[in-house]
Amino acid sequence: MKAIGYQRSLPIEDPQSLVDFTAEVPQPGARDLLVRVQAVSVNPVDTKVRVRKTPPAGEYQILGWDAVGVVEAVGAEVMLFKPGDAVFYAGSIVRPGTNAEFHLVDERIVGRKPKSLSVAQAAAMPLTTITAWELLFDRFQVGRASATSGALLIAGGAGGVGSMLIQLARQLTSLTVIATASRAESRQWCLDLGAHHVVDHSQPLAPQLKEIGFSTVPLIASLTGTEKNYPGLVEVLAPQGKFGLIDDPKMLDVTLLKQKSGSLHWEFMYTRSMFGTADIQAQHRLLNEVADLVDAGKLRSTLTRELGAINAVNLREAHREIESGRTIGKIVLEGF
Ligand SMILES: NC(=O)c1ccc[n+]([C@@H]2O[C@H](COP(=O)([O-])OP(=O)(O)OC[C@H]3O[C@@H](n4cnc5c(N)ncnc54)[C@H](OP(=O)(O)O)[C@@H]3O)[C@@H](O)[C@H]2O)c1
Repeated sequence: MKAIGYQRSLPIEDPQSLVDFTAEVPQPGARDLLVRVQAVSVNPVDTKVRVRKTPPAGEYQILGWDAVGVVEAVGAEVMLFKPGDAVFYAGSIVRPGTNAEFHLVDERIVGRKPKSLSVAQAAAMPLTTITAWELLFDRFQVGRASATSGALLIAGGAGGVGSMLIQLARQLTSLTVIATASRAESRQWCLDLGAHHVVDHSQPLAPQLKEIGFSTVPLIASLTGTEKNYPGLVEVLAPQGKFGLIDDPKMLDVTLLKQKSGSLHWEFMYTRSMFGTADIQAQHRLLNEVADLVDAGKLRSTLTRELGAINAVNLREAHREIESGRTIGKIVLEGF
C-alpha cells in the first residue's frame, strides 16, 4: 500500500522530512477495523511528533490522526462495525497514523461517518471534536441544555479545536461563548460558528471582557499559547473557576490559582486509547452522537482548506501551514 512517513526528524523545508513509500497492508487484531482511508486531516500533533520522534533505524514513522474511510475487514471480536461501513475517527497516538491507504484502528474509538458530509468535510472533524467534547463534558462536567449557565472563554477560538468547542458549547449548552481571535478573518470565523462575543488574545483580556459585561468567567479553555496567555487568563478566571488546557506549556505556576481556588483540568484526547481505559468506548458514542448532530444540521464541518491528494508533497505543505500557528479551521487531503 501507499504510505507517507519519515525516517529522520527534519525541518519541513527538507524534502526528506516526509516521503512517499510502500508498506505491507497490516492485519487487524481482535477489536481492529482495517479501514481503506479516503481522506485525512492534519493536526498540530503531526508536526510535533515529526519534530520530536525518531523511528527505529530503517523504519518509517507514519503520521496522521484523523481519517474517513470504508471498513475493508474486521478482527475476530469486532461487534460495532462490518465491512462496507463508512467511518470517521482519530486513532491512537501509540499506533501508526492514518497517512496510508489502509489503517488499523480499535473499533471502540470509531464513529459512523456523518451521512450529510463529503469525505473531506467529515475528515476535518474527529480529533478536534473528541478533544472539545471531552474538555467540555468530561473534564469541566458542563451539563447539557439548560443545566449550566455562565460563560466559557475559549482562547484560540478559530483553531481546529476552538472551532468545534464554540459549536458544541453554543449548540448543546446554555453557556455564553466568548472566543479569542487576533485577526479580522479568524474573528469572523468564530462569530459564524456561534460565538456570542470575540475578544483579541493579542491585547489585555480584562478590559475587553469588562467592555462586554464580564469582570470574570467561570470556565476558561486555553487551547493554544497557554504558556504566554496564562497570567492574563488567570486574572479573568472567576473565583472557584475551572481552567482547562490541551497544549504543551513547558512550565505553569499552579500557585497562581490558589487564591481563587481555581482548578486545573488537562484534556488529552489520546488518554482513553493509550491506557485502554474502561470507558474507552465513550469515544465511539460521542462520535456517533456528533454524526447525528451534523446530519440534523446542528453542527457543521470545520473544513476550510483542501490541499489535494494524500502524498508527501501535499502533506509537507499542510505541515508548513500548521507550523505557522495561524490556520483557521482544518486542512484536509483526499485520495491517494
Ligand atoms: N490535548 C489534546 O488532546 C489536544 C488535541 C488537539 C490539539 N491539541 C493541541 O492544542 C493546540 C491547539 O490545537 P488546534 O488544532 O486547535 O490548533 P490550530 O488549529 O493550529 O490553532 C490555530 C489558531 O491558534 C490561534 N492562536 C495563535 N496564537 C495564539 C495565542 N497566542 N493565543 C491564542 N490563540 C492563538 C490562531 O488564531 P489567530 O490567527 O486569531 O491569532 C489560529 O487560528 C495545539 O498545540 C495542539 O497540538 C491538543
